[in-house]
Amino acid sequence: MTPQIWQEKCAEIRARHGAAAASAATLADLEKAETDCLGRKGELTELLKTLKDFPLEDKKRLGPAGNALKEELAGLFAGRRDSLSRAELDARLSSVAEDLSLPPYPFPKGHRHPLTVITDSMTGILMRMGFAWADGPYIENEHHNFDALNVAQHHPARDMHDTFYVKPADGHEADERLLLRTHTSSVQIRYMRGRKPPVRIISPGRAFRSDRIDASHSPVFHQLEGLCVDEGVSLADLKTTLMQFYTALFRQKVDIRFRPSYFPFVEPGVEVDFSCVFCKGKGCSVCKRSGWVEVGGAGVVHPNVLKAVGIDPEKYGGYAFGLGIERTAMLLYGINDIRAFYENDLRVLSQF
Ligand code: PHE
Repeated sequence: MTPQIWQEKCAEIRARHGAAAASAATLADLEKAETDCLGRKGELTELLKTLKDFPLEDKKRLGPAGNALKEELAGLFAGRRDSLSRAELDARLSSVAEDLSLPPYPFPKGHRHPLTVITDSMTGILMRMGFAWADGPYIENEHHNFDALNVAQHHPARDMHDTFYVKPADGHEADERLLLRTHTSSVQIRYMRGRKPPVRIISPGRAFRSDRIDASHSPVFHQLEGLCVDEGVSLADLKTTLMQFYTALFRQKVDIRFRPSYFPFVEPGVEVDFSCVFCKGKGCSVCKRSGWVEVGGAGVVHPNVLKAVGIDPEKYGGYAFGLGIERTAMLLYGINDIRAFYENDLRVLSQF
């Protein structure tokens, strides 16, 4: 083969295979055309192999030209591949009927916080027992949070160390000092005022105390308040109600124990313990080997509280209780640090 003929062949391959690349209608056609030209046995590959038979002088000239042609054709095939695959994708997408109402992948789904789960089951049980649901504001005045609940002015609970006081917004004046309610008992007053017994309510919700944060204290926590006022209501009714409530919550027979205690708004006041459901009274780390677990305060509504809301204490009596929701959740779920509820660590929260 003369150099002249070799160059003509190059030109001819350039024309024919360039056209084939440009006119390939599908990716499969393009693949075949590319193999015919640049594959191991492709026409250009075969032609380039013949270079070795030329004298050195010719090789120096023809070699670079042949390589340049090889690169040029490879570029043509790649360019055509790009536009064909884009066109094929477009065609495929426009032929699929899209359902815009489908949720986006990967369907992230939230769920209830453990405190919400436990609050729902606690209120659910009590509502089936006949208690109505009541609510009150987080920002309270001293009347609802303290005075009407028979908490005397000098009671240590009013000390700045326990209570977050709230400054009224600029331009607003409050008749009384405002505070973040330190317990849900304020709802008792709000509910009873202007109503006549019988009263049977529960009120779950947040309470606030300026406690230092540790494994069992948080400045924001949750309580479940209960209140029953009617003729002939006694401490025995309170005990039965709590016993049935915890028996339903823990799905096993639970006993209730009262220990004398003091809350200004009840008389007598008690600390409520339930029999340890974890060791059945044998003694474990949850009940600190006592067989009993403390869950809140309760008692017979103080006559002064009834008077404060215009209910005749000679005619009516009642009981009230305030149970710790975090405490109950920690017991039920085996959580030993209250901070787990507020840190929003999904590794913890997603277990419930
Ligand atoms: N309010 C009390 C507390 O926060 C609990 C309680 C409620 C006690 C009702 C007696 C009656 O500790």
